[in-house]
Amino acid sequence: MALMEFHVITLFPEMFESPFRVGMVGRAIEQGIIALKTHALRPYGLGAYKQVDDAPYGGGSGMVMRPEPLAAAIDAAMEAHPGLWRVLLTPQGELLDQPKVRELSERKPGLLLIAGRYEGVDERARAMVDQEISIGDYVLSGGEIAAMVIIEAVARLVPGVLGNPESLAEESFSAGMLEYPQYTRPEVFRGMKVPDILLSGDHQKIRAWREAEARKRTAERRPDLLVRPKR
Ligand code: ADE
Repeated sequence: MALMEFHVITLFPEMFESPFRVGMVGRAIEQGIIALKTHALRPYGLGAYKQVDDAPYGGGSGMVMRPEPLAAAIDAAMEAHPGLWRVLLTPQGELLDQPKVRELSERKPGLLLIAGRYEGVDERARAMVDQEISIGDYVLSGGEIAAMVIIEAVARLVPGVLGNPESLAEESFSAGMLEYPQYTRPEVFRGMKVPDILLSGDHQKIRAWREAEARKRTAERRPDLLVRPKR
């Protein structure tokens, strides 16, 4: 069985096809380390037109997703795959960051990601999920790409997905700081030289330099990270 399952309730299952055929996630799916399954919302729509949205009570522009199709889709997915952690993608959710990604990666057997569309979902749909998550302070026209962001970020924490697990320990945000500057060949590129210390072979000095650079970079670009309590 897969180490982590990702299920997505969406009006647009086809959006999830090509992004996850390629790269690390594509390979992990092929190898059965993780599983991805979309659940089309449309068949749970109401009436001959399989309607999933309606005008807001109280008036106003835009359409609101009705709760019944969402509830039916969630119930069916949970019945077929018990124990999933239900996450609604919405700009009103908790902001996603790396500690939250890690928490999500520990929700076994996996996640049921619910992608809303239109202007929002009926307030009563909130009672049917375990958590609401936003991927950032901007508005997407649907939760699909937000769900993909979660899948991508969580999948790479699942053991065996990443080619080189050591890079996980070192990378940005895991230590609450931005990553230090990285260089590869050539030694000189358009007049810009790789810092001598990285060519010195002195691993202790290199480690200290990287630590100092990471701190400097974080202070310059993201001072908010340095004052935020570590989780
Ligand atoms: N749906 C629309 N905007 C979103 C956002 N920023 N995060 C998560 N889901 C969304």
